Amino acid sequence: MSEQSQSLYGGATHRRVTIRDLMQAKTRGEKWAMLTSYEQMTAGIFDEAGIPVLLVGDSAGNNFLGEENTIPVTVDEMVPLVRAVVRSSHRAMVVADLPFGSYEASADQALATSIRFFKEAGAHAVKLEGAQIDQVRKLTSSGIPVMGHLGLTPQSIHQLSGYRVQGRDDGDAMLNAALALQDAGAFSIVLELVPTELAKRITDSLTIPTIGIGAGNTCDAQVLVWTDLMGLTKNPPKLAKAYRNLRLEILDGTKEWAEDVRNGIFPGPEQTFH
Ligand code: KIV
Repeated sequence: MSEQSQSLYGGATHRRVTIRDLMQAKTRGEKWAMLTSYEQMTAGIFDEAGIPVLLVGDSAGNNFLGEENTIPVTVDEMVPLVRAVVRSSHRAMVVADLPFGSYEASADQALATSIRFFKEAGAHAVKLEGAQIDQVRKLTSSGIPVMGHLGLTPQSIHQLSGYRVQGRDDGDAMLNAALALQDAGAFSIVLELVPTELAKRITDSLTIPTIGIGAGNTCDAQVLVWTDLMGLTKNPPKLAKAYRNLRLEILDGTKEWAEDVRNGIFPGPEQTFH
């Protein structure tokens, strides 16, 4: 057993985390954390913190690109973000989220899009929303690891009539979808806004890890959008907990600097050249 396979956090730092490492963590009962990242600074910091999986989520839409939600995000917009996160990390597995409209039409479309993320950005896996079984089978049989995403799938927000808890009345359907994704070769599944009892049922029924977001604490892993975690988001969702208040830090720092400029205090002697 390799050093890294003993713990996703304390293990070797000389190679990237693999899907095998994540499967072994589930077998050991070791929980792990996944974070979104959209650019080089946070990717480097989260990698240094030992976060084993970084998701370049299409939540870039409403957290980085100024969109209202994830729907408008395009593959051309996502490729440079994924490339930056891959280049700025050394150990994390980097997962590229397939944007709305880039994989639903057919398995071939999903393969063509995923190949772009692999060749142009160096992604290590892709994520797609819903029970797109043919797509998952095609990708995994082509050598592309796939992370599934069930429950509240934000690309379907209009079909779902808003951001609401999913699976309260049809838990069996979600469990069957999760089993079908696993059978098609998915290596993990995000469960978003799912009742904790259902998330546990799904987690216990699968051999692959579940990654919860608003799905209770019995999932094998947890994911958060990093701007929610660090208190940058103005109106964070109820499922998130802010561990810092970066919004306030940045706001205060910006005002302080601008005030110093106005008062002729910045630049001071240390920032002045002769
Ligand atoms: O795009 C994203 O950030 C996601 C996570 C919330 C799972 O899909």
